Amino acid sequence: MKRMLSGIKPTGRLHLGNYIGAISQFKKYQDEYEMFIFIANEHAITVPIEAKDLRKNTKDLIALYLACGLDPEKVTIFLQSDVPAHAQLGWVMICMSYMGELQRMTQYKDKTAKGETGVTAGLFTYPPLMAADILLYDPDYVPVGVDQKQHVELTRNLAERFNHRYSDTFKIPEPLTTKVGQKIFSLQDPEKKMSKSAADPKGTIDLLDDPAAARKKIMSAKTDSLGIIQFDPINQPGLANLLTIQSVLTNEPVESIVSRYEGKGYGELKKEIGQTVFDFLSNLQEKYNEILKSGKVEEVLKNGAEKASYIANKKIRKVYKKVGFTL
Ligand code: AMP
Ligand code: TRP
Repeated sequence: MKRMLSGIKPTGRLHLGNYIGAISQFKKYQDEYEMFIFIANEHAITVPIEAKDLRKNTKDLIALYLACGLDPEKVTIFLQSDVPAHAQLGWVMICMSYMGELQRMTQYKDKTAKGETGVTAGLFTYPPLMAADILLYDPDYVPVGVDQKQHVELTRNLAERFNHRYSDTFKIPEPLTTKVGQKIFSLQDPEKKMSKSAADPKGTIDLLDDPAAARKKIMSAKTDSLGIIQFDPINQPGLANLLTIQSVLTNEPVESIVSRYEGKGYGELKKEIGQTVFDFLSNLQEKYNEILKSGKVEEVLKNGAEKASYIANKKIRKVYKKVGFTL
């Protein structure tokens, strides 16, 4: 079985776009790959974050992932900081990186270009830490959003550099950006991605939104004045977005939904989708609340850290020998 690894930053809350674009994909991958998913909490402190927020985000995120159907029997779920080998290999990777190549990384470049003050050294050295996160586990694939592809490219370069300078140690991973799920757009501005930072909260459905409020957001989603139900993302982006949401959440092909609605109005369609979203969120939140109460999060993390440490420690021992730390 091929191995896949991804890290998730514990910042903010998850929305329907995250579910459809990322989590529902992970759910499919867990049957096809040996999967590792970790919470990148060491990356989270590259920008200021209160300890209590970090703690809450971390716990919420894991509870939500489990509620969404990630199965800890199939996926190894763990915290980055529970496996010290990340920080250990991170340092080695920082020492393998050139200032010039890190200066070209977009997150750092964008922040400094905007003249932001208080940019930390951690933000600058975060890509080699990400390389360490990946290389410890020799994954075949790293599913990431397009914004992260550059970091996987750096990871490949650092792995090749290390393998060349010492000897063959790391597998060269492939970024996986193609197979990620559909993009979901803002319900109020269907030209823009649904996002947690969007100016209009009516455009984004949070996974922890009150289900009735979420239904209202669907009912008031922006569509068009053509009045024909068909899947046309160019001319009817709002409608296409709603059809995508309905299709992913119910597993019914878009064509089948469209044909059921031939000659009918948007209002009726929205009613059905509103109900789908209502049911989806109610069910999800019920599971989420149960998981939070049950102590499951702690148990999953403990087991995950054990499994991950076993693999990561073997790798870091190898690296320490090769660079000359082990006498
Ligand atoms: P972010 O919330 O931007 O950190 O993204 C976390 C994951 O969710 C990434 O894999 C993104 O590609 C995915 N994602 C975020 N927003 C959307 C969206 N509107 N539609 C589809 N996928 C998304
Ligand atoms: N940098 C990623 C993000 O901002 C999170 C991340 C950290 C990651 N380490 C990783 C993703 C390793 C994939 C593999 O979303």
